[in-house]
Amino acid sequence: HSLTQFNTLGIKADCLRLVRARQEAELVAICLQAFKQQEPILLIGGGSNIVLTETFEGTAVLVETKGIEVTQGEQCYYLKVEAGEVWHDLINFCLDNEMPGLENLALIPGSVGAAPIQNIGAYGAELAQFCDWVEYLDLVSGEIKRLKGGDCEFAYRESIFKNALKHRAVILRVGFVLPKAWQPNLSYGPLQELSERSQGVTPREVFDCICETRMAKLPDPAVLGNVGSFFKNPVVSQQTFDALKRQYSDIVGYTLDDSKIKLAAGWLIDRAGLKGLSVGNASIHLKQALVIVNKGGCSGQDVCDLARLVIDRIFEQFGVRLEVEPRIIGATGQKELADA
Ligand code: EPU
Repeated sequence: HSLTQFNTLGIKADCLRLVRARQEAELVAICLQAFKQQEPILLIGGGSNIVLTETFEGTAVLVETKGIEVTQGEQCYYLKVEAGEVWHDLINFCLDNEMPGLENLALIPGSVGAAPIQNIGAYGAELAQFCDWVEYLDLVSGEIKRLKGGDCEFAYRESIFKNALKHRAVILRVGFVLPKAWQPNLSYGPLQELSERSQGVTPREVFDCICETRMAKLPDPAVLGNVGSFFKNPVVSQQTFDALKRQYSDIVGYTLDDSKIKLAAGWLIDRAGLKGLSVGNASIHLKQALVIVNKGGCSGQDVCDLARLVIDRIFEQFGVRLEVEPRIIGATGQKELADA
């Protein structure tokens, strides 16, 4: 079975078995059976954070469970959302029903069930701020468990699902909490213009601004295959940052709570002159250096070779080691870039 239309990089790769799960019971049964038979499982939501490098020798499961349930307390709305809902559609649903809060995260590709895994984030917001709980199937015990948001070990593009619960959790649904007293979050870049306006800004205006900004820089996967940012923004010490700043006065970094500095990897790659660098048909995007695009028919191997080339070049020039953001998927599951 072909997985080409189920990964946003548009890489041609196959899998042994491909099943669609539209109901929770199906999803649970398929995953438990495959796990018992020690068959590799690849869960696919939007397919927007995976790099397929070879034939997947197992079962690929398309998670298509749907449903949004809303309840409210005095202060907040509570949403219970099935894993297969499309993330961006959820935000539209919330705004249509006057439950703002998620608008800074508009247009992030992918599904609701995938969102907690890497704690999706953009424009000054991240999933962790709104995540009440996550319900998942524990493949080892066969039980369905609920983890409070505070126990998901959320950090920048990190969660317990990429660490302690890797390979054993199938996310079934996510609970969100949206405060009724809405405060626009206008701290980041282009949103600052909105905050300078005299009259109040509406959630839709924030949403539209985010959509425009993303569409201007980030390629639409339907047109040019990609998985969004390919590298994480690396975190360095103040000392390292100061040394780099002496050499590169326009270097871009943000100070974090622990006074470390998060560098803009896009700036590093851009400054190293790597925009447009290609291996086969995989190429560094010309408008946003953090993105690798498929110019047509590239292989997962091309993408990984290009990523390694970028990491080496950036290390040589700046002494900073970049890490990849998407999951690299080999024949039996996730792999390290070095082994791909
Ligand atoms: N920059 C360059 N050249 C480039 C790209 C960026 O000089 O080619 C500079 C920009 O001028 C800016 C800085 O780097 O000063 C940061 O760029 P940008 O605001 O575009 O954000 P980013 O750090 O590149 C991160 C997320 C994005 C998210 C944006 C907005 C990561 C890995 N990426 O990108 O997330 O949309 O911030 O919040 O944290 C994703 O995860 O797929 C993703 C797109």
